[in-house]
Amino acid sequence: MSVATLRPRPPVLSLIGRTPLLPLRFAAEDRTIHVKAEFLNPSGSVKDRLALCIVEDAERRGLLRPDSVILECTSGNTGISLAMVGAAKGYKVKILMSDTASVERRYLIEQFGGEVQLFKATSGYGTGIAMAKEMAAKDDRYFLPCQFENPINALDHEEHTAREILAQLPGPIAAFVSGYGTGGTITGCSKALRAAHPDVKIYAMEPTEAAMLSGEMPCCHSIEGIAGGYVPPLLRAAHIDHPVKISSAEAMAMTRRLTQEFGLLVGTSSGANVAAALRIARDLDPAARVVTILCDRAERYYSTKLFKH
Ligand SMILES: Cc1ncc(COP(=O)(O)O)c(C=O)c1O
Repeated sequence: MSVATLRPRPPVLSLIGRTPLLPLRFAAEDRTIHVKAEFLNPSGSVKDRLALCIVEDAERRGLLRPDSVILECTSGNTGISLAMVGAAKGYKVKILMSDTASVERRYLIEQFGGEVQLFKATSGYGTGIAMAKEMAAKDDRYFLPCQFENPINALDHEEHTAREILAQLPGPIAAFVSGYGTGGTITGCSKALRAAHPDVKIYAMEPTEAAMLSGEMPCCHSIEGIAGGYVPPLLRAAHIDHPVKISSAEAMAMTRRLTQEFGLLVGTSSGANVAAALRIARDLDPAARVVTILCDRAERYYSTKLFKH
């Protein structure tokens, strides 16, 4: 019989989710974009929320034993977050990561004491997900968070991220924009925002080079963490009004703009989200409120094109 053992939450984990919503004034465009600063989570990304809620849910359901190993396939940020939660709560963590993910992600996971195994990126996330399932079938010490299909991922964004946005920005919201990796952020936030504001429009940002929701084939792009050549099961529950295509070049240009004009040291998917939000806002009344997410910090992109001028 499984026994619930909720390990204590060390102080660092109480910092998760205390992220501000910042208004960014784009004077030239005469628009303000409201950004949820998820890069301020303790390990530096929106994924800290998912890591904590899935691990604590597993503890409550008695799925984690003293010898358990948390095993996940990820583009990197979930791995960093799980490695941090594992370090703080005393669990081993093993991460399956595509060989195209930036090397900084691997270093950060290893610095938290996690183990990294790389797989060839050629067939997208599907390869790593299948590997994780095969490994778990052979060894019952492995616990799989299954971030791409675990409903807790979206539920946590519905109950926390979106409710924080609603409290931080009282009054109408015209549009919410987010890229998708697992789809947890957009699926959960869209549900709660729509319940509060039935007229809000939900936009799924995706790379022009891999615009699968727009019916195109996945291809190489440089917006790490999103659109991994796979439409995740969680995304099927999302109510999306329109996809918005942003190219890798547009994403990088906006990411640099966020750093150089606003002092926000964030990664490429944050720039992509803001570029999409600004494009949408330009077609709306200047007073319409558009919200998006700053997903992660720039420290995990030093070796990528983002830092090569
Ligand atoms: C950098 C980055 N941006 C955005 C996302 C998208 O978040 P979600 O998985 O909730 O769709 C991810 C997810 O992996 C990410 O790593």
